[in-house]
Amino acid sequence: MIKKIIGKAVTTFAGREDFEIPQHDSPLFAGIDWERLPRHVAVIMDGNGRWGKEQGVMRTAGHSAGVKTLKNILKTAIGLNLDALTVYAFSTENWKRPETEVNFLMNLFYDSLKRELQELHEDNVQIRFVGRLDKLPASLQAQMRDAEELMKNNTGVKFNVAINYGGQDELVRVMQKIAADVQAGKVAPEAIDEAMIEQQLDTVGNLPVDLVIRTSGDMRLSNFLLWQSAYAELYFTDVNWPEFSPECFVEAMKDFASRDRRFGGLNDNKK
Ligand code: IPE
Ligand code: IPE
Ligand code: MG
Repeated sequence: MIKKIIGKAVTTFAGREDFEIPQHDSPLFAGIDWERLPRHVAVIMDGNGRWGKEQGVMRTAGHSAGVKTLKNILKTAIGLNLDALTVYAFSTENWKRPETEVNFLMNLFYDSLKRELQELHEDNVQIRFVGRLDKLPASLQAQMRDAEELMKNNTGVKFNVAINYGGQDELVRVMQKIAADVQAGKVAPEAIDEAMIEQQLDTVGNLPVDLVIRTSGDMRLSNFLLWQSAYAELYFTDVNWPEFSPECFVEAMKDFASRDRRFGGLNDNKK
């Protein structure tokens, strides 16, 4: 049975402009078990529209506020020395939204990336975009390529941004690639294994996802990282993404540390 946890509602507004990478001894990190942190955290940044509605502003204002949240959560992930942070920015299903909202989001991705590029680089982030990128506006694609190129030799947190990403779509692309190799006589069907599939995933080179966080109360994966999250712990909180603070993120880390991860085996020392 999937364990569903509702995180505590922490209402501190996260969009602090002056938030810096927290040091190891920061009060924010008090009570953290450093030995039991996830290495790869994936976040479904949901609830921007609902937040906007609650504030009496447009849904799109929620998306803009969400960018500030993301900036602070990334800095927190750096402070925690996580190996990877993968965030869901736009799904293969999000094209169903009104054209005005889709266009707003594409412009927001472009502007935010342009604005934050240098700081991300200074923070030693390795940025990567995952998803079916060739369907995105050409200017955004160029900006994404430039960002990846700029940061390709960085050694800090692996920061994957999922745009036009769907877990099923990713697996379709993997299967097409492997099927072509089989047809060309390069691969025998019986040689296909988990490792070969992983080599073709958008997230190749990343560790498996340890923890999936979803904000805003809904308890589903919405087609996010289906393969990579095979054994992830799931954490759900009612807090809308624009309000999801570094404190909320730390709360999720503490909850993760309390989980008994058995991977199908037995943990005799725990029971
Ligand atoms: C998540 O917030 C951001 C994207 C999907 C781009 P939503 O826009 O889904 O916000 P809600 O779920 O409607 O509140
Ligand atoms: C998932 O949120 C996608 C992103 C956060 C980018 P949605 O708001 O699109 O998911 P559903 O429609 O509630 O499943
Ligand atoms: Mg949503």
